[in-house]
Amino acid sequence: MKVLVTGGAGYIGSVVVEKLVDGGHDVEILDNLSTGHREAVPEGVPLHVIDLLDRDAMITNVRGIAPDAVMHLAAVAVVPESVADPGKYFRQNVTGTINLLDAMVEAKVGKIIFSSTAAVYGEPEELPITEEAKVDPTNPYGESKLAVERMLRWYENAHDLRYGVLRYFNASGATERNGERREEETHLIPLVLAAATGSGEPLSIFGTDWDTRDGTCIRDYVHVEDLATAHLKLIPLLDRRSATYNLGCGGEGYTVREVIAAAEKVTGMTVPFVEAPRRPGDPAALVASSEKMKRETGWEPQHDELEKIVASAWEWMKKSEE
Ligand code: UFG
Repeated sequence: MKVLVTGGAGYIGSVVVEKLVDGGHDVEILDNLSTGHREAVPEGVPLHVIDLLDRDAMITNVRGIAPDAVMHLAAVAVVPESVADPGKYFRQNVTGTINLLDAMVEAKVGKIIFSSTAAVYGEPEELPITEEAKVDPTNPYGESKLAVERMLRWYENAHDLRYGVLRYFNASGATERNGERREEETHLIPLVLAAATGSGEPLSIFGTDWDTRDGTCIRDYVHVEDLATAHLKLIPLLDRRSATYNLGCGGEGYTVREVIAAAEKVTGMTVPFVEAPRRPGDPAALVASSEKMKRETGWEPQHDELEKIVASAWEWMKKSEE
């Protein structure tokens, strides 16, 4: 099957590409390289360096590539930045996706898997969060992803197009070939590891007075390889219907202090930290129910222990600093 992966040079996209290539699929990548890396593109996989906002280029290229399906991961995705600059988020994530969808309609491409986020839920009323929970984003990033989810329904209604929405919880970890590599890091696990080695600042724990078991925020860390595998599991379902799924590991989730403890165990180093005020837009706890995905597609996360996830991120960090 020929698959176009937007954002395929980025953190999660590069692992999706890795899995598609391993699965024998014919893959092409579309990426503006704003946060992606040319080195993440495997040999033999064509890379089209195009911005989603370049509507004419999108129409010409999608027609030229003529994929059977699109996996749409290209997006801006930093929550605090979205609060400071909402226009950037709506432009890139919403207008950019309109250009992609119009290009798909024009080229008669009828299947899309869209990367959405737990941020569509905002502050959840109940844990674990199921797909039926109320959606009410607390930041423009989540709002922009929710707007796309809603658009997809209307494109399906008007055109011959089916979609799979994957609401990722906290993507983390690395494979042997790909991992997190950002110029400005805001995510917990890479920051904790950088604090441990002394290559970064001591970690600021954002809030120690949350109503959780140790006062720090709880998140559902899901290994990037498990996220990638979910995309492949979803392909056959799109022959029949559209659907929306949460992707997390479930369980109790992990607090920030538990992530620090896991990193200390994995690295054998001490993680220096300071207790800082809460970060605007952070919900106290986000933990997924991924039962629907498991039941309907047979997906099962393979890396459900935090220590192993952190260990894979640590291996990647050591390798990328060599
Ligand atoms: N945190 C700290 N200190 C830091 C960085 C993070 O205490 O220096 C805390 C945050 O407050 C939060 C947790 O660690 O409680 C995780 O923070 P991340 O920034 O790593 O991740 P988020 O949960 O904020 O967001 C991530 C993705 C979003 C996605 C969301 C869905 O970045 O794109 O998961 O759960 F929407």
